[in-house]
Amino acid sequence: MSQPQQYIYGRGSESEYKRLVRQGRRYEEETRTIFQKAGIAQDMRVLDVGCGVGEVSRIVADVVGPRGNVVAIDVDPGALAFARTHVPAANVEFRCSTIDDFSEPDNFDAVVGRFILMHLANPVVALRKLSSNVRSGGIVCFVEPWHGISMSHPRVEAFHAFMEGGFQALRAAGAHLEMGARLYADFIEAGLPAPQLHTAAAVSTGDDSEFFEMLLESAQSGIRATVPEAQRDSVLAQVEGIGKAMREEAVSKRATILLMLNVGAWSRKP
Ligand SMILES: C[S@@+](CC[C@H](N)C(=O)[O-])C[C@H]1O[C@@H](n2cnc3c(N)ncnc32)[C@H](O)[C@@H]1O
Repeated sequence: MSQPQQYIYGRGSESEYKRLVRQGRRYEEETRTIFQKAGIAQDMRVLDVGCGVGEVSRIVADVVGPRGNVVAIDVDPGALAFARTHVPAANVEFRCSTIDDFSEPDNFDAVVGRFILMHLANPVVALRKLSSNVRSGGIVCFVEPWHGISMSHPRVEAFHAFMEGGFQALRAAGAHLEMGARLYADFIEAGLPAPQLHTAAAVSTGDDSEFFEMLLESAQSGIRATVPEAQRDSVLAQVEGIGKAMREEAVSKRATILLMLNVGAWSRKP
């Protein structure tokens, strides 16, 4: 199997899998809306790429119903083992494969993915490769974040310091922070018709403790996967401190925070 580039959140960790479940629940409603707007429907055969613990596969399995089916691929066998117990739906098959290695030309009614293109070295090449698995007239639909546009009002300094650290780490790992904003151009570059877009803002307030836990969990996963063992504990402690300060500042200022936009893009293969 070909080796994908380094994935910043690491592989094989139970805490990372639980983080993906929690994140998946938070963005479930908008993801479902995007798939339905894109035309994913009953009885379809759908490929879910970079499925992780199966949060997207679970939604698609529900939308396509018992006569439809989902093939969900990921490079991480640990995530797939977790997914098989977490999403025991009879119409989902989890398979271990990289995107590069997967090839079933024209065999799917749709290909979908969430928070995956942003982690790939060349999203246009991946889109071209992935759409080859879809029949003519079938759907190509991705949901990706548009990071780097974080805002807070009143301004929460610790939040912006926290995010800047995260952005630096994501950039260093080769992730595309603006992936949501690139989908339109990248679909066209990959030879697909101009996609339609749907966006949803991830907005929170100090009351939303789960939001702050989620931010912290993302940073912790990234640190565990990328920081050398000798420095790991001190970096984790530092980030935990910033995380606590961020929440306290947001609460005391009664701030509203915009984390990112999630952008869904879809079009039909010619
Ligand atoms: C941020 S997670 C998103 C998981 C899921 N799509 C969701 O929204 O909950 C990205 C997943 O893509 C997988 N991945 C990264 N690069 C890959 C590649 N080249 N081929 C297949 N899977 C890949 C990772 O192992 C990880 O499980």
